Amino acid sequence: MKRRLWITITGAILMSTLTAGATGKSGSTKKSSFGKSPDGEPVDLYVLTNKNGVEAAISTYGGVVVSLKVPDRNGKPGDVVLGFDSVDGYVSDKSYFGALIGRYGNRIGHAQFTLDGKTYTLAKNNGENTLHGGIKGFNKAVWGAKEIPAKNGQALELSYLSKDGEEGFPGNLSVRVVYTLTDSNELKIEYSATTDKKTVVNLTNHSYFNLAGPGSGDILGHVLMIEGDKFTPVDSGLIPTGELRDVAGTPFDFRKPTAIGARVDSDDEQIKLGGGYDHNFVLRRKAGDPISLAARVVEPKTGRVLEVWTTEPGVQFYTGNFLDGSAHGKGGISYTKRSALCLETQHFPDSPNQPKFPSTELKPGERYHTTTIYKFSTEK
Ligand code: BGC
Repeated sequence: MKRRLWITITGAILMSTLTAGATGKSGSTKKSSFGKSPDGEPVDLYVLTNKNGVEAAISTYGGVVVSLKVPDRNGKPGDVVLGFDSVDGYVSDKSYFGALIGRYGNRIGHAQFTLDGKTYTLAKNNGENTLHGGIKGFNKAVWGAKEIPAKNGQALELSYLSKDGEEGFPGNLSVRVVYTLTDSNELKIEYSATTDKKTVVNLTNHSYFNLAGPGSGDILGHVLMIEGDKFTPVDSGLIPTGELRDVAGTPFDFRKPTAIGARVDSDDEQIKLGGGYDHNFVLRRKAGDPISLAARVVEPKTGRVLEVWTTEPGVQFYTGNFLDGSAHGKGGISYTKRSALCLETQHFPDSPNQPKFPSTELKPGERYHTTTIYKFSTEK
């Protein structure tokens, strides 16, 4: 009797060890060299793996999400973001693949803004305007990195000090971004910052998603839902006009899941200005909810689903209209027009010049803090 019990117990222990081994139950973080920055600074790549075997690779150059491997409906893992095999690709990149964006995500009109009566002049790197922080935004910086404990997954803390006057912005801005790959198959990004002088801040991540995998064609068959009743129409320089326009009756109505390709080439004036979708949506918030669903994307062939949750008031939906095939990414794949989509959670573009938009000002003594979650699952 005793012997049989002992055999059963050892059998059970052996079985559970084998299962744990097969699914990588405990998760891990591994660091390796990713090359050097143009200034000769060493750049590292951290590969975070959760207990389900989902993997996120993050580079200290630009805080870039280099790859994100999640299962399809048959459990087969595959990369769902565009990017490059080494740091050199990111150094020459002009499309912000996977990068952390700052000090100000998206555009500031006429490359200037006024705070307390003082006008700050920024670099013009997008026609007359400033885009994604200027000529050397946070996407071109080497970030400090530290593995930190996480309750439910693997976490990496990145830090960067953006000096007073950098790209024309006032104040020493101390920035901290924590990437957590949770055991619920989420990539959670927590952004925080403090300043020693009044400034403006708008941080985001610029991952280009293709849920069928980079190189699998365009994203026009992806089915998208956005929790937004309004969007911010733009002028010819893609600067918001200040209007919050109803999506109802326009190609911007994604309140019901709709294929991205259904209206991307329509003759709507706003679609024409963007060359497709390149617009900020005003997110519907549920009162009292600390974080809300912003968007949901389904890729019908693989069954992969991406949900975007955020504390931010807006999301920039961009259909990769400016990708022209000149960037050759991972495995030599050429990144062509509309081969990926971005859902950049943010405050609205040009907020520093738009008094009616939610404020992006940060004062000394305050703490900027936002959270965005990219959650992966599958459906039949
Ligand atoms: C902008 C696009 C821009 C792209 C840069 C997006 O956030 O809205 O207009 O071309 O970033 O790759």
